[in-house]
Amino acid sequence: MLVTYGTTNGSTARIAEAVADVLRKDGLTVESLPARSVTSVTPYDAVVVGGGLYAGRWHKDARRFVRRHRPELAKRPVWFFSSGPLDATVSERDIPPVRGVRRAMTRLEVREHVTFGGCLQEGAKGRVAGMILRSGKGGDFRDFGAIETWAEGVADVLTRT
Ligand SMILES: Cc1cc2nc3c(=O)[nH]c(=O)nc-3n(C[C@H](O)[C@H](O)[C@H](O)COP(=O)(O)O)c2cc1C
Repeated sequence: MLVTYGTTNGSTARIAEAVADVLRKDGLTVESLPARSVTSVTPYDAVVVGGGLYAGRWHKDARRFVRRHRPELAKRPVWFFSSGPLDATVSERDIPPVRGVRRAMTRLEVREHVTFGGCLQEGAKGRVAGMILRSGKGGDFRDFGAIETWAEGVADVLTRT
């Protein structure tokens, strides 16, 4: 199967790796690739797509991936995740997908979507990233325990079918 992601600063890639590791441990054959480098999804039986959130939208690489591969994705089981909030909200409540992601979920009959906490650290690209960091609102809010638990759920479905 394929775990693919749109990332600017690498933290979504790291989440994707954690998801892929769990799936591999459960016996699945997994490739983990940046969304922009995937040319076709036909070799895969199932796909997980993750994207960092930027200004209320999924990372453009994740959006483009879904748009480009829509017909093939629609024939496969697909899971989505987003990573973004730079605070503890994801541990307090479920953060629903942003509008574009919700729309893609309906079109593709995506199995499930989850929002994980994000990460913004020194060295992140962009002026706004610098402003967020200077205002003291950066940090690593990824919960790898929660990420692994979610991935176990995906693996359960795939190893049962
Ligand atoms: C310019 C900018 C805009 C952001 N906008 C959002 C947002 O709208 N919603 C959100 O939850 N997180 C937002 N974030 C936080 C990022 O989603 C978070 O840092 C994420 O982990 C980035 O993923 P990446 O490292 O894979 O690029 C924003 C961060 C930056 C720098």
